[in-house]
Amino acid sequence: MSNRRRFSIIDAIDDRNLFAPWFKNRTTWAAWFVFLRALFGLPLSASELPLYQECTGRTEPPTAAATEGWLICGRRSGKSFCLALCAVYLAAFHQYQQYLAPGERGTVMVIAADRKQSRVVLRFIRALLLQVPMLRKMVERETAESFDLNNSVTIEVATASYRTTRGYSIVAALLDELAFFRSDDSSANPDTEIIAAIKPAMSTIPNAMLLCASSPYAQRGALFDAFKRHFGQDGDPVLIWRSPTRTMNPTVAQLVIDTAMESDPASAAAEYFAQFRTDVETYISRDVVEAAAIQGRHELPRIEHVRYFGFVDPSGGSSDSMTLAITHMQGSTCIVDLIRERRAPFSPDNVVKEFSDTLKSYGITRIVGDRYGAEWPRERFKVYDIEYRVADKTKSDLYLHLLPLLNSNRIELLDHPRLINQLTGLERRTSRAGRDTIDHVPGGHDDVANAAAGAAVLAAQALAHPEPPIVAPYVAWGRPWNWPGSATDTSAGAGIANTPPPKGYDRPSSAEPWFPYVDKW
Ligand SMILES: Nc1ncnc2c1ncn2[C@@H]1O[C@H](COP(=O)(O)OP(=O)(O)OP(=O)(O)O)[C@@H](O)[C@H]1O
Ligand SMILES: [Mg+2]
Repeated sequence: MSNRRRFSIIDAIDDRNLFAPWFKNRTTWAAWFVFLRALFGLPLSASELPLYQECTGRTEPPTAAATEGWLICGRRSGKSFCLALCAVYLAAFHQYQQYLAPGERGTVMVIAADRKQSRVVLRFIRALLLQVPMLRKMVERETAESFDLNNSVTIEVATASYRTTRGYSIVAALLDELAFFRSDDSSANPDTEIIAAIKPAMSTIPNAMLLCASSPYAQRGALFDAFKRHFGQDGDPVLIWRSPTRTMNPTVAQLVIDTAMESDPASAAAEYFAQFRTDVETYISRDVVEAAAIQGRHELPRIEHVRYFGFVDPSGGSSDSMTLAITHMQGSTCIVDLIRERRAPFSPDNVVKEFSDTLKSYGITRIVGDRYGAEWPRERFKVYDIEYRVADKTKSDLYLHLLPLLNSNRIELLDHPRLINQLTGLERRTSRAGRDTIDHVPGGHDDVANAAAGAAVLAAQALAHPEPPIVAPYVAWGRPWNWPGSATDTSAGAGIANTPPPKGYDRPSSAEPWFPYVDKW
């Protein structure tokens, strides 16, 4: 039995001793009240119905609380605040003890895309809890990321890298900006995986609520799947609410939106009008990248007489990683031999020295690198006798050139999860000018992929336009008579085998200038 109807979230918002101080100008919050009524299955007035129908695509008003709510709303629309409000309401005004073992705590889990966003939600939650005397009394313990309430409920704020839901009883899960959950360590789908991990932890709590909020992004991932499956479905316990920014929060200036539309309409349509982007596609499928990675191959040692290529993606050491990749060609196949990544913070000088030592151990004295930071990589590598040339191709161009190698099976990658995840995390955007750009998703990284693509393209290009090889003279059709090393030469240093030349096939043309000097045919 839920007691949500007894003291509703709207009652809590109306109460001057509870949340009313946060809603001073109630007219600007009108759309949020309609959403909250729909989410918790509260009656809607006739004047509220059209907005509900517009934002849910449904015709019938809700008759019960939703088990899942998905808010697809524009930037600055109030998503994070709404999640915080729901988290506090669900934690403080619901009893879950009947579903918990003695001594067990129920968790209201709030998961944000990154630390910065989790701090935003945490600040809203802290204010809602501690600035309301009645709720402040309920807080037994506060840590940097959680609040224990005296009703056996803990509100915990985590980031999307958070994986351990095992052992928890989750009474509500609230996910903020899940279209931007990123992970380049272990998984390409942190949004669906986190939800899949949370659901079993909610399974013992009847009416446990999952509430996800995000501005939309590409047409993929958990948010888009939920939208496709549940938008506009009357009677569906999964409620999808999609709305432009200014519908939810009219305090956002129209000028801000107009300016964004002018500078990048594709992005602004997603950010302020809650449209999933149609101009972003994945760069390459995971299957292709995984097929190119040789399982169990983490690094290859140097082979004598092989020409190696090195590419560096430099970084100043404060935020991004600095990466190095080494490749060579084996026939027409590019082999990735080595990948090094030094994650920030680091001392650029130490990393340049370390990379230089590695490069020299593969016989490399000239490298190509990203044009980051103008002169400094060139100067620092020079100290260690490595010539650093700035790439003549942009990062996008490198990825475009890498594509045929991957698609036609002409590259062997290492068994390197970050490389695989970063390559599969890349996306291709078509711009108005018709030029495609390939880059990491917002909030993602591609330093490892960048270095590998650079080194692979270098090697493949060297095959297409080889430098004149410095090799020993070689006479194709026979051996010069009385040449050093011939059967007649017995002088010191004569090193060539003295077997006679093969006879009887492919005779040389007598027009060849060297014809008179070779054995008689
Ligand atoms: N309907 C509204 N009326 C007045 N103020 C609002 C309304 N909705 C949100 N706000 C205020 O707008 C600010 C942004 O809210 P919030 O951070 O929750 O938005 P968001 O959608 O999460 O934004 P972002 O896209 O940047 O993450 C907050 O100060 C919030 O109180
Ligand atoms: Mg937010």
